[in-house]
Amino acid sequence: MFSKNHFFGKDIVSIRDFSRNDLEFIFDSTDKIQQLTPEEKSELGKGRTLGYIFYEPSTRTRMSFEAAMAALGGSSIGIFDSKFSAIEKGESLADTIRIIDLYSDVIVLRHARDGSSRYAAELSSNPIINAGSGSEEHPTQAMLDLYTIFKEKGRIDNLTIGIVGDLKYGRTVYSLLYGLKNYHVNVHLISPPSLAIRKESIFEFERIMNINHYDYLDDIIPQLDVLYVTRIQKERFPDTQEYEKVKGTYRIDEKILDDAKIDLSIMHPLPRLDEISHTIDNTKNAIYFKQAAYGKELRSALLALILNEDPF
Ligand code: NCD
Repeated sequence: MFSKNHFFGKDIVSIRDFSRNDLEFIFDSTDKIQQLTPEEKSELGKGRTLGYIFYEPSTRTRMSFEAAMAALGGSSIGIFDSKFSAIEKGESLADTIRIIDLYSDVIVLRHARDGSSRYAAELSSNPIINAGSGSEEHPTQAMLDLYTIFKEKGRIDNLTIGIVGDLKYGRTVYSLLYGLKNYHVNVHLISPPSLAIRKESIFEFERIMNINHYDYLDDIIPQLDVLYVTRIQKERFPDTQEYEKVKGTYRIDEKILDDAKIDLSIMHPLPRLDEISHTIDNTKNAIYFKQAAYGKELRSALLALILNEDPF
């Protein structure tokens, strides 16, 4: 069933472009790549170049892609601060993509606009990987989120998953929900009403999944197997006064654990500001740093699949 590599030469623009079989093929490949020796791994990207352009800040996404490409024996070039590139002089996204396309075999793009990766994929002859497009999507984050759930819980089906925080502007939330549509899950969405999921998406999610909405985490915490926490996306608020109103409205601390299942897994795409207390970090419930570690492994597997017809 999982024999065909559908990722070879493909763009990763939206997680909606991939089926459950495709996702499970990546999970299986991520397991496999961790079993290779460093020498075997370093054959998979030898002589190949990853190009990246980050129009928005990044820590984990860029570094994990770069670390992944290095482990595959390839190299990375790119722009992570547009102030030090011709973007600052006014060069367009289209021209920037055309140029990086000349110098790389695969391109990782983060941009503040929804639709930016789809547009770049139309212009580029090499595969584009969407590393965040506005508040729309962040597909490789969702792939690593789903892989983390699968590894920690042994399954994704029949879990009860709470997603708390900025459900309006958080792109990781949308990609995660599109990914979860492939599974039989109960989803509880928890946010202040002004940060609820965007109306245009809720119809699509509710048709497929069992979704419930809450203002407060306390109402639902005992039922959860997984709690996925997100940061309030300050940079996406059209009005900073609106951000001030919701800032600090939820915080995960040890008190929450009193009512939670003993094996509740707490996830976060990171960066975390004040929404998870540092006192949670050393509990066995906190899996957000493990999640970031899986990110490098999953992105290594994904690059290996994009760059090679039959890597494993
Ligand atoms: C996320 C993003 O960029 O959307 N970060 C990440 O890639 N792990 C989440 C965030 O910035 O809050």
